[in-house]
Amino acid sequence: MHVSKGTTRFVILVGNKAIKIARLRPLWVVLRILKWSLQGQIRTKLETRGSTVPGGILFCLRRMLWGVIMNRNEMYLWRHVRKPWMMPTLYSFFGIINIQPRGEPITKEELDAEHPFLPMIEAVGTRCGTDVINPENFCRYDGLIKSVDYGSDEMFGVLCPHISTTQIQIRHGQY
Ligand SMILES: Nc1ncnc2c1ncn2[C@@H]1O[C@H](COP(=O)(O)OP(=O)(O)OP(=O)(O)O)[C@@H](O)[C@H]1O
Ligand SMILES: [Mg+2]
Repeated sequence: MHVSKGTTRFVILVGNKAIKIARLRPLWVVLRILKWSLQGQIRTKLETRGSTVPGGILFCLRRMLWGVIMNRNEMYLWRHVRKPWMMPTLYSFFGIINIQPRGEPITKEELDAEHPFLPMIEAVGTRCGTDVINPENFCRYDGLIKSVDYGSDEMFGVLCPHISTTQIQIRHGQY
């Protein structure tokens, strides 16, 4: 058994499965709010992050629940968009726990040579940051390179430009 601590999820690799448990980050929110209050900048900081104060509060809540959001996005994308480069998401318990098959780690050289969707991202001109070129976010499964980390808002925007992720996250009946 191997446990890996990602930014948004703890991942337990056991047998041929990867169990992805969302991390809740209330401390992140509390510390940020404390820091902004001490700086006397809470209003400005919230407005920077969410355009308005309520928008900023929503942003902080989303940061706290980011692992759940990533898990829910992955389940939604696997069910409704399904691409050969996605590691299958077999099961999701309300985004708190997701299960994927376990893949084999790959090297940067392998990813550079066989990246499964970079041309598609570049074609639509979306900036997805360094996550999409980080080999740790990919595995080999069934002989192919697949993404194990495809639930980000940016990726969701590319694959489902007609749906807002907030819609998915708040309407629990969606999937
Ligand atoms: N299906 C899988 N098969 C094998 N390993 C996996 C699988 N899913 C995740 N992992 C391992 O767990 C690590 C963290 O998973 P993942 O990237 O999905 O979580 P995360 O919280 O988004 O992490 P981070 O924010 O650090 O990228 C991966 O880098 C990979 O090493
Ligand atoms: Mg990752």
